[in-house]
Amino acid sequence: MGELAAEKHAKYILTVEKKKDSIESALMEHLRINGAYWGLTTLDILDKLAAAVDQETIISWVMSCQHESGGFGGNEGHDPHLLYTLSAIQILALFNKIDTLDIEKVTSYITALQNEDGSFSGDKWGEIDTRFSYVAICSLALLKQLDKINVGKAVSYIISCKNLDGGFGCTPGAESHAGQIFCCVGALAITGSLHYVDKDLLGWWLCERQVKSGGLNGRPEKLPDVCYSWWVLSSLIMIDRVHWIDKEKLVKFILDCQDKENGGISDRPDDAVDVFHTYFGVAGLSLLEYPGLKAIDPAYALPVDVISRILLH
Ligand code: FPP
Ligand code: ZN
Repeated sequence: MGELAAEKHAKYILTVEKKKDSIESALMEHLRINGAYWGLTTLDILDKLAAAVDQETIISWVMSCQHESGGFGGNEGHDPHLLYTLSAIQILALFNKIDTLDIEKVTSYITALQNEDGSFSGDKWGEIDTRFSYVAICSLALLKQLDKINVGKAVSYIISCKNLDGGFGCTPGAESHAGQIFCCVGALAITGSLHYVDKDLLGWWLCERQVKSGGLNGRPEKLPDVCYSWWVLSSLIMIDRVHWIDKEKLVKFILDCQDKENGGISDRPDDAVDVFHTYFGVAGLSLLEYPGLKAIDPAYALPVDVISRILLH
């Protein structure tokens, strides 16, 4: 089995940032703040963040994405959304700069998106999804403002999205999907509500996601994909059932998805690499305690040292 090409992956992340005219970059324009969170967190897990990027420039660009409502857009001048707001807070957290924010303003943007039934809309247009429950709860926890929403109702809404197979979907009755399971289990972990999860049943569903190659898929009958190394594994860790999968085979699958020449990780072996899968591959290896990587927190999706710095102060 090959090794993690850590140097090459760090270099790949930094060159993607410079290739602003590429097609990939044009397609990603509106997602740029999410991309920045994936890339910067990858560099931090590889312990190459401080040396590699100009913190001041990044922070002032992040702040330029803030809308007058308090929420953040995907890039300068773009409409705000909860998904981008979490990425902005996470990037500031990586640099220990949460105090750059007007916390009250960001908090009021988030709290206004909670609905009567406890669910969250992603933005003013109103789409509801358990992803937005997670993003709101994770953001408020990082800002230490969780008490500003109705946590009890937020938790009941998430529980109402639990299925008979032990998994969770995006709305009540929607099929179980590993990405949504991460969101629901993460939100329950952050709010101290994991006792609502049927850990054996969900653990069984999650470990059935491992296929022959060692990779994990997101739903039955789907192909394995490196990003599910994160969604599935983080959930298994939060419910204390990670010993139910074959960790060695999963490490091998992720390493097989590397472009060892030019850096970057793809969704499955021999596909084209991208920043999203590079992040989730490296983050997955961190959860698997691969040597030389910083530990990442499975609920907050940020390095453990960053989370301890925030939550212990
Ligand atoms: C699968 O997406 C993943 C999800 C549905 C979960 C997304 C979670 C968030 C946006 C919350 C923020 C995440 C972090 C790590 C802080 P997909 O569209 O690739 O699904 P598919 O495989 O079914 O196409
Ligand atoms: Zn994927």
